Parts: sequence; C-alpha cells; structure tokens
Amino acid sequence: MNILLIGSGGREHALAFGFHASPSLGTLFAFPGNPGMKNIATIVDSISLNDSGTIIAFCKQHAIDLVVVGPEAPLVKGLADDLRKYGIAVFGPSAKAARIESSKGFSKDLMKSHGIPTAGYERFTKEFAHEAHAYVNERPLPIVVKADGLAAGKGVIIAETHHEAHEAIDEIFAGLFAEAGSSIVIEDFLKGEEASVFAITDGNEVVLLAPAQDHKRAKDGDLGKNTGGMGAYAPAPIVTDEVMQRVHDEIVMPMLAAMREQGFPFVGCLFVGLMIDAGKPSVVEFNCRFGDPETQAVLSVFQGDLAKLLHSAAIGALDHSAMQSRSKGFACNVVMASGGYPDDYETGHVILGLDKANEDPNVHVFHAGTKSLPDGTIVTAGGRVLGICGLGEQLADAIHHAYTCLEHIHYHHRYYRTDIGKKGLNVTNP
Ligand code: AMP
Ligand code: GLY
Repeated sequence: MNILLIGSGGREHALAFGFHASPSLGTLFAFPGNPGMKNIATIVDSISLNDSGTIIAFCKQHAIDLVVVGPEAPLVKGLADDLRKYGIAVFGPSAKAARIESSKGFSKDLMKSHGIPTAGYERFTKEFAHEAHAYVNERPLPIVVKADGLAAGKGVIIAETHHEAHEAIDEIFAGLFAEAGSSIVIEDFLKGEEASVFAITDGNEVVLLAPAQDHKRAKDGDLGKNTGGMGAYAPAPIVTDEVMQRVHDEIVMPMLAAMREQGFPFVGCLFVGLMIDAGKPSVVEFNCRFGDPETQAVLSVFQGDLAKLLHSAAIGALDHSAMQSRSKGFACNVVMASGGYPDDYETGHVILGLDKANEDPNVHVFHAGTKSLPDGTIVTAGGRVLGICGLGEQLADAIHHAYTCLEHIHYHHRYYRTDIGKKGLNVTNP
C-alpha cells in the first residue's frame, strides 16, 4: 500500500514511524515532511495544500492508496472532501465533520443534544457581549471562557474571579484570538485529571488506541501558559479499563451516531479530550485528528499494522484485527522546545547530539520543529523542536530513558519540562 502523509510535525513523524513498521506498507510519501522522516519516507515538494488539484494529480501518478492528513487546518478547509470526489481513500474527516474541532460551540451543541457528558455552557457572539457578562455573574467559579474557533490549543482562559472572566470576554471580543474569538463559549469548570483517547473510526465502528496524558502548561507542576503540549505518556493509568469502557459507550459511540444522524459521518481519528473525576469521564473537547504530542507516545506502544488499520477506516471497513495490542509497555514523550515558547523564541540554532540519541534502542527521537540546511546540519525551526520518546516495560523506565537520552541533545536555549509522566506514577485511586 502506498501512502501520502500530509504534515510536518512530531505527530506526523510518529505516524511515519508507525507506517514504516507496518507490514502492509509499500512506499511512504510525506508532504512537506520533516528532516527526521527522510530515512523512512520520500519527501515530496511538488504539491500545494492550497491547490487540491496538485495532490490529486500526485496521487494518480504515484498510485497512492491512502492519504493521511495530520493537521486540522486542511481538513477544516475540505481537503478530504476534495480528494474523495476523485475516489481517493482519505484518513481524515470531511469539512462538515471537522467542525467538531473548528467550532467549540457547534461541538458543545451536538454533545448537549445527544446527552454526551460535558460541562454546562452557553454561547455568545460579540453583539451580545452584555449577556455574556451577565451569564458569568450567575455561574460558580472558576469559569472557563473559550474562543469558538481554532486557536492552536491556546484560546481558553480559566477565570478564577468574576473580574477575570469579564476581562477575558472583553479581550477575546477585542481580538485576542483574532477571528477565532468572534464568538465564545463560556463553560463550567470541570475538576479532575485530563486524558486523551484516540478513536480510529470508519464512521460506524471504532478501535480505541492507548489512552494518553498530555502536559499542556509550559512549566513544571502544570504552571505557566498553555502550549500545544510539552510532553505526553501512554498508556495513562488514570484511564482504567472501566473508564475506557465508559468513554466507548457514553462518549465515542453516541458521538459517532450523532454525526451519522446529522448527515456528516466522521471518518478518521476522533480525538476525545477528557476530564476524569472519580472514574467518571466528561468531554473537554473533541478534535478531528491525532493529538500532538500524544501520538508519539501512543504509536510507540501500538502493536499491529497501522497502515492497514487507517486504510480500513478510510474505505469504510474497519479492520479490528489490524491492531494486535493497544499497548506494549509504556512510552513517555518529552518535548524539547525553544526557550521562550509559547511566546517569542529564536530559531536557526544548530542541534548537536542527534546521532547519539538516534542510536539509543530505548528511545524514539521525533522531529517537530527542525530544518535541514543544504550541508545537512539540522537546526531548530519551531517552538516545539523534538520529542524524545522513551520506552519501557514500566512507566518509570520510559521516563528514565527519555530524560537520559535527552542529555545527549544540545542547542542554544533548549527548554523542556522535567516532570513529564510523573502524574502517571502517582495514580493510586483514579
Ligand atoms: P481546549 O482547547 O478546549 O482543550 O482547552 C484547553 C485546556 O483548557 C484543556 O486541556 C483544559 O486543561 C482546560 N480546560 C478547558 N475547558 C475546561 C473546563 N471546562 N474545565 C476545566 N478545564 C478546562
Ligand atoms: N495535544 C493536544 C492537541 O493535539 O490538541
């Protein structure tokens, strides 16, 4: 099977790694790819995401059996719809189905109307800002104010006081998150522990991958600003078999049924962002694609034929046997970032020690924001630079391997959290 993978981050490097390990893979092409993929994929530079015609032509020319779309933006714009019109199998939802990520309000309405557990909320547009202010005054604290649209995981303000909530409303409507904040969702605060579950689906049936836990804040101890994610581990013990069953029965299956019923079945990876409180899961958010940096950990413990699994979902005939086991051991993916991220940071710094890190059999090194110079030197090129994913029989081993390996890698202003995975070690009574 020939696959065209779209995307360039750590998540896509992990997908490439999963395809490379798949018995059913023929040739893997990656657009635009990243320097970490160059030994396992053919990097493509001849197509454009702004012109689906170039992708369709590429697929015909290279006998592509499956297109896998990593990031949300092309899905939201309708790339999967464009390709399907030409009979190309795509792993990734239609633009209509991708609204579960591109509009938080839309997603909340769907959950509410189908009884899927999530925090109570109301939606407001800018013209009705006064109603938003009145609403927060009536709600308990803390309260969560969210931009409706896509804001790279950063469009959420958790207000501890009513004053902060009023400020958040004003700032979002004044353009803090640009267009994404032209309407807002105000929702009750959910307490508990967060986890992410990825459901691979053909629209009807699902295969759930290993549950993961992301670390969204920039600093140790879950302090500092929200980021795209500073590290993740899988499987997350907080998601016990009982919790996983509830996620399947009370969240994933009713959500897929709701989407079918509304006329936009979801095909791809349904990302379920959860809050788990005393064993009860509620939805914090849905995304329409794999998570980053969770995928690096989730696919590092996956056993099976990933290419076959995603292809079967794309053609509407989910093959449960393509996954032999959700998880073998544990994986802990520590993100190495550029100092300053998620605010301003520098790029172009030479990265040393990659060869040594790549030799470590207990680790997968995933590139996220890197660039290869013409002489082959690898330099930093983004906020999140690398994911150092340690493997181990126990979570503690995986954490240890990641942090040991990371010491081989140096660049100016490198930054990482030192407590990725720690929460998973402390789970006694989820
Ligand atoms: P989202 O972009 O909706 O995933 O929100 C980003 C982060 O904000 C989440 O990962 C949570 O840590 C936090 N968050 C969002 N909504 C809530 C909520 N209702 N209660 C508590 N925390 C929340
Ligand atoms: N790790 C969170 C996300 O991918 O949105």
